[in-house]
Amino acid sequence: MRKIGSGNDALSDDQLQALVNRARLPRHVAIIMDGNGRWAEMRGLPRIAGHREGIGSVRDAVTACRELGIYALTIYAFSMENWQRPPDEVNELMTLLEGYLQKEMATLMEHRIRFKTIGQVHRLPASVVHWIRAAESATLANDKMVLTIALSYGGRAEIVEAILKLYDDLQKGLFKRESVNETLVGQYLNTADLPDPDLMIRTSGENRISNFLLWQMAYTELYFTPTLWPDFRRRDFLEALINYQQRERRFGLVKEQIQPRSGVRQG
Ligand code: FPP
Repeated sequence: MRKIGSGNDALSDDQLQALVNRARLPRHVAIIMDGNGRWAEMRGLPRIAGHREGIGSVRDAVTACRELGIYALTIYAFSMENWQRPPDEVNELMTLLEGYLQKEMATLMEHRIRFKTIGQVHRLPASVVHWIRAAESATLANDKMVLTIALSYGGRAEIVEAILKLYDDLQKGLFKRESVNETLVGQYLNTADLPDPDLMIRTSGENRISNFLLWQMAYTELYFTPTLWPDFRRRDFLEALINYQQRERRFGLVKEQIQPRSGVRQG
């Protein structure tokens, strides 16, 4: 099945990579991996075949980030709404995730990548939680990159949890009401130790953010592509980066107020 051309089709992989400006890399890329089911259905395969193939795209995105020096990659693997999918598909996704963790642990260690999860991870099956906790603690000191997987995640639920915790701490007298500001709220989110995403990529032609990192994406550049996630490989990721680098980020300022910096300003 042919993919829709991007205009860079004539370039070799190396030529395409040379177009990525290393001085203007995003610090944090977030991805909504969408279209696995359609990828499989188009081939007459069960939906899980699309998820399985999608792991190759996860690997490509992680590798590209690590090689280029992009500090954080956050991928949306399972939303709170995904619990409503047929139990077989949910079980198979959990098995895939567990297998991924077991298989990739050595690579994460070798490349000093910290593994982290966000979301209501305690709702996952115990064996998956076991592997997640093992990967999180084994990779805790890895300092080259952070790979975050959003699991049983919803942006609104995350904000509600943050409000409740913040309220409790306020009641305990840990800070004054006047100290509550955007920075403090950010510290109560699952992503407290990460910069906000500079770039969010969503595959499969859907132009929504679907309850993903709602607070954190206030100034994020959004990149939507019709490519289905299993087809979204290294070249597609590089194209998204190049597209991002052609944008001017203003953060509500006028053009003249934007200082040229070595990197793109953090939103
Ligand atoms: C969306 O496609 C994809 C998902 C809900 C799951 C993504 C999971 C993986 C890529 C594999 C496991 C993850 C990791 C991190 C190892 P969809 O099923 O909604 O596709 P559709 O919209 O075409 O039906």
